Amino acid sequence: MAEQQRSDVLAFYVNGKKVTVSDADPETTLLGFLRQSLRLTGSKYGCGGGGCGACTVMLSRYDPQTKHIHHFSVNACLMPVCQLHGAAVTTVEGIGSTKTRLHPVQPYLCVHVQERIAKAHGSQCGFCTPGMVMSIYTLLRNKPQPTMEEIRETLGGNLCRCTGYRPIIEGYRTFCESENCCRVNGSAGCAANGNGPLEPAENGQTETSGKEKLLPLDPTQELIFPPELIRMAESEERATQTFRGERMTWISPISLDELLQLKSQHPQAPVVMGNTNLGLDIKFKGVIHPIIISGFRVRELFEVTEKPEGVCIGAGSSLSTVRSVLEKCVCSLPAEHTQTLAALLEQLSHVAGEQIRNVATLGGNIASAYPNSDLNPVLAAGRCSVVLQSREGKREVPLDKDFFVGFGKTVLKPDEIVLSVFIPVSRKGEVVRAFRHAPRKENALATVNAGLRVWFEEGSNVVKEMSVYYGGVGPCTVSAERTVQQVIGRPWNEATLSDAYRALVDEVTLGASAPGGKVMFRRSLTLSLLFRFYLHVLQHLKDTNVCEGEIPSEQLSAVERLPNIIQPSYHEFQDVPSGQSEQDPVGRAVQHQAALSHATGEAVYCDDFPRTQGELFLSVVTSARAHARITHIDVSRALSMPGVVDVFTADDIPGKKFRSFTGIDEEILAQGEVTCVGQMVCAVVADTKPHAKLASAAVKVHYEDLPDRIFTVEEAVEKRSFFLPQREIQRGDVTKAFQEADHVYEGEIRLGGQEHFYMETQSMLVIPLGEEKEMKVYASTQHPTMVQEAVAETLGIPSSRVSCHVKRIGGAFGGKVTKTSILASITALAAWRSERPVRCVLDRGEDMLITGARHPVLGKYKVGFMSDGRITAADVRYYANAGHTPDESVLVIEKILLHMDNAYNILNLCSQSAACKTNLPSNTAFRGFGVPQTLMVIENMVNDVAMVLGRPAEEIREKNMYKETSLTHYKMEFDPENLLRCWEECKERSELDRRRLDVARFNQQNRWKKRGIAVIPIKYGIGFAEGFLNQAAALVHIYKDGSVLVSHGGTEMGQGIHTKVQQVASRELDVPLSMIHISETSTSSVPNTCPSAASFGTDANGMAVKDACQTLYKRLEPIRKQDPNGTWQSWVAKAFLERISLSATGFYRGHDLYMDWVKQEGRPYAYFTYAACCSEVELDCLTGEYRTVRTDLVADIGQSINPSIDIGQIEGAFMQGLGLYTMEELKFSPSGVLYTRGPGQYKIPAVCDVPLQFNVYLLSGSHNPHAIYSSKGIGEPTLFLGSSVFFALKEAVAAARSDAGLSGPFTLHSPATPERACVACSTCFTQMIPQAETETTQPWALELP
Ligand SMILES: Cc1cc2nc3c(=O)[nH]c(=O)nc-3n(C[C@H](O)[C@H](O)[C@H](O)COP(=O)(O)OP(=O)(O)OC[C@H]3O[C@@H](n4cnc5c(N)ncnc54)[C@H](O)[C@@H]3O)c2cc1C
Ligand code: FES
Ligand code: FES
Repeated sequence: MAEQQRSDVLAFYVNGKKVTVSDADPETTLLGFLRQSLRLTGSKYGCGGGGCGACTVMLSRYDPQTKHIHHFSVNACLMPVCQLHGAAVTTVEGIGSTKTRLHPVQPYLCVHVQERIAKAHGSQCGFCTPGMVMSIYTLLRNKPQPTMEEIRETLGGNLCRCTGYRPIIEGYRTFCESENCCRVNGSAGCAANGNGPLEPAENGQTETSGKEKLLPLDPTQELIFPPELIRMAESEERATQTFRGERMTWISPISLDELLQLKSQHPQAPVVMGNTNLGLDIKFKGVIHPIIISGFRVRELFEVTEKPEGVCIGAGSSLSTVRSVLEKCVCSLPAEHTQTLAALLEQLSHVAGEQIRNVATLGGNIASAYPNSDLNPVLAAGRCSVVLQSREGKREVPLDKDFFVGFGKTVLKPDEIVLSVFIPVSRKGEVVRAFRHAPRKENALATVNAGLRVWFEEGSNVVKEMSVYYGGVGPCTVSAERTVQQVIGRPWNEATLSDAYRALVDEVTLGASAPGGKVMFRRSLTLSLLFRFYLHVLQHLKDTNVCEGEIPSEQLSAVERLPNIIQPSYHEFQDVPSGQSEQDPVGRAVQHQAALSHATGEAVYCDDFPRTQGELFLSVVTSARAHARITHIDVSRALSMPGVVDVFTADDIPGKKFRSFTGIDEEILAQGEVTCVGQMVCAVVADTKPHAKLASAAVKVHYEDLPDRIFTVEEAVEKRSFFLPQREIQRGDVTKAFQEADHVYEGEIRLGGQEHFYMETQSMLVIPLGEEKEMKVYASTQHPTMVQEAVAETLGIPSSRVSCHVKRIGGAFGGKVTKTSILASITALAAWRSERPVRCVLDRGEDMLITGARHPVLGKYKVGFMSDGRITAADVRYYANAGHTPDESVLVIEKILLHMDNAYNILNLCSQSAACKTNLPSNTAFRGFGVPQTLMVIENMVNDVAMVLGRPAEEIREKNMYKETSLTHYKMEFDPENLLRCWEECKERSELDRRRLDVARFNQQNRWKKRGIAVIPIKYGIGFAEGFLNQAAALVHIYKDGSVLVSHGGTEMGQGIHTKVQQVASRELDVPLSMIHISETSTSSVPNTCPSAASFGTDANGMAVKDACQTLYKRLEPIRKQDPNGTWQSWVAKAFLERISLSATGFYRGHDLYMDWVKQEGRPYAYFTYAACCSEVELDCLTGEYRTVRTDLVADIGQSINPSIDIGQIEGAFMQGLGLYTMEELKFSPSGVLYTRGPGQYKIPAVCDVPLQFNVYLLSGSHNPHAIYSSKGIGEPTLFLGSSVFFALKEAVAAARSDAGLSGPFTLHSPATPERACVACSTCFTQMIPQAETETTQPWALELP
């Protein structure tokens, strides 16, 4: 081989074993390598862009200079494998398994980390769990007894869509040196303080894990760092390494000279450091760099020098290292010298998550020149400079306004690198501060940030020098020079600052269509951050005795932080009856059956199945136009690319080319015309995922745009674009009631959609068996039967030839029903044509683009009410944005009408709902199925009534609540007793009366922080209004050794259905839980299943399993009677000999539910689940940021089968609701392109969003004759209770408005993002911003729904 073609050998360790790679490809990430090459599938793909933490692993490196081994967490999805030479990687598989756990005592840290999350019920679907485990494991390797704050910060880079984080925090709280105890089931004892259970041991609870039962912690027993790597680091002959891949070559020099020489030879080649920017460009923007130069082994880039005049930090230092260096400096230097250092530290603690901070470098951040870099504004304001070097020499350049020359551009010459950054110590009389505001408190790029510095004449308040830099308000870091000129030479007082604000409004502007949108908000933030700086400086001047006087006490709230300390939470649930057998697990807090498998990474998800021989990968080509005719599809280039096997379109479908949902056809692949961006047009099949992706990008689809694109519901209404039927419902005499009402008020609220953001993206593997047209489909779906049918119809074969298998799902929330069946059809077609196994796993961006979301809804209402608060009439119109295909939208709008009464007995009401057909991706089921939207509209209406009357909202709610056995508006009789009990108990538990007074006092005393408190009730119907969907079946086998295999129609997606079903089987067969196994959900074991949805899974499948077990129990009864002293095993063995069948099916017919839309009456639900929730928030009126201070939730879920699982569902749903109503925003371009395609742009709640105190109480003494063991469905109902946070926020905003002289109802659309909350506060800063000329300029994003 010619020298030029040579690739070096890469050597590193994974879980204690040496790995050598002779053909390392620079494009291969550690995650891909672990999963594909090493078959270590514990680390998960959640986003591929460093935003979710599912891929977290620990990296360890030995530093020969300090002789230290450094352990740090990283995102394997961004770590190039070529960067790993000499490193030790520890994955979740390396720290413990359920096999090793079976061994006697293993005092390893890993076991603790894995066990504690499992025992604390901190895993539901389990997809995020390995990442959580590895983040905490790494923390504990570095600090065995961390503080609670460190735990919280460590988890900041890990997202979970199921749990609501509380149990994860509680589980890991037990590692803290001094932690407050958790209070499960009211118990004051807990694992944390060593005198009680982490799970309740009292009152008949089975599992205990008090600290004394948890294995002692001994970090010295951990996997040792491979000695060979120490030897390598100390003695290895260091030489340049080169790794050549298909498209890129990676060169890793060992000296600065060599690096500079390479850079001069290849000036266009980037210098890769943390790869957190470069990696994203390569992955998501298709950028190709033929040569990449790694600066990772160049020591000079990591040098840190402390001098009296400041600190010089090597540009290669990771942000975590920079943080440690700054912390050390701040501790050792006099306070007056640390202003810039402390301001930088402040920003660094908010940059990304820990995994990113551990690899992203200072130089990389500066050179990337992000418009919203958190560091650049402070570095610029703080008089910092950079040393740039090329072969020509060094130059020191100030990091000021002239350094950043455009989007992603600096003054760096192509052959130059950033060698180091110099941060000067601050001077006497200098004050430096940094602020940022982001859509989420942590792990989110800033919307606007600022670095501000002022230097005063000695001993005076006259400004000598000042710098103000902003990020997020232009293509690069922006200097507000003209504003500064207004201040220099003047005293630091309000008059000076007033002039500065005026100058700033003129100087820092944004056009109405500025990228990123939020124009008015961003501009107002520049002012409010300056105001905050003003107060900080004023405080500083006072503290340093330069000027007298105080910041007025009510203004102080502008500089105070929002509360942040997570308190222990309190949970209370029913105890099992005193006489219940010890073995009977029903009603007990049994751990999720797969929790340990989740925590050890052993749990198998669809994409974890090993690759089969000859397996291919499928990638779909999607439409780039919202409405167009396809004139030609050119696949020639794609077909000629490496590894490509097939490209097919709708013409190649042998069977049905469409799917019918609710009787309306939907194309599988577009035929002739596309109706939204993201619609699937054709598919490419290749030998590997990268090849399939590259080829799908090479398919050229030619379009001819069609007129009349419709995006908003208003446009749809205007053009009569609907999916039919529309629905309406009427009760009483609305016209008369309006005439007689004391007040009539009209209002509206817009609700944005919501991305499911299940952590496991859509995944499937189809294997043609090669005989009799049989196909085996492994899919991550909530509805295996629908997948089976869809595949059979598409291929034109009988359903009997297709089996669908679901082991488990990494979260679904309604998004894995219809959409998965279409994707599975396409994948099956590929397998059918190629006669080879085909896998399809959507990338996060594709998944978000293609699969739709929760329906955005516009609700318009007219309400009539009396002066005492009684609502006497309501007329409500709902317009749901269905997108371009019908999917289940008509069912969604039906449910919208059925739930519109929520808890209120409104005797005269009429309502209509419509599914609007638009040119956006097709929306689909999402936890709650329209209920979270309709209830929001109704509660907003009730809230408006309260605002018009100037009364507390809970008073109006209470006044209108159902009080006695009543008929709903569709004439279903029910008894609201438990609704009222939940309501009363919630008010009492939350101490509402006292806290309302406290809130009022707080608001009086604070101008810039406001509090709000709200209580919200819910009545939620359980079951499918389409009666046939309520059936379920099961199959139970008892094997000769007594072990039991249960199959049922429900799929396990984190909701714990398998655990609950095991509990049912254990009770019915009277055998211990450990005897019962559930392997998978399969259409060949249990046919014709219904979707696991509508909170009805356990109700239906539990009953079917109960039926099967009772049959078996009866069959064994004679044998038991013959041998009463026998054992289960002996009875089973005897039964076999006596030829008694040990296998039985079970069936549950379900309730006869129906809804007659002509008569407008029915019994669409089996029963109602009730709950009430009180939340209190504190709002920062200057930025719209808020914190949920406390939440108390009381839920009536009958007799819980498993209270821990149910509480997990309650908390997880609540947090999803909190996300829906206050955070999560889908943004589309004016031409219908989804902008928000990953965790970087779409923010779901993270650990920082958990209510600081979150108490959950399960209503005692509740019984439900309509469901198994008197339980109730709980998966969906409490999602709406996240709106208690919205309404508390609205109240806080109202208090701010009152200070601004505004009163009465006002519009606050959902989600109440910081932008909306801040603008609604109508502060003097938002009022200073002139309205953008939206009529002449197209805004950056569509205003939906
Ligand atoms: C999930 C996520 C969240 C983030 N959140 C934040 C945040 O909240 N705030 C924030 O400020 N940033 C944030 N970032 C951005 C992050 O800080 C930057 O990507 C990072 O600092 C870049 O450093 P790197 O070493 O990874 O650069 P790389 O990706 O390795 O390189 C990026 C660019 O910089 C150039 N470069 C790197 N080092 C040098 C050098 N020494 N000399 C010359 N050129 C060089 C490269 O040529 C390349 O063009 C986030 C990034 C991610 C992925
Ligand atoms: S998969 Fe790596 S952070 Fe999301
Ligand atoms: S358990 Fe965390 S994402 Fe499902």
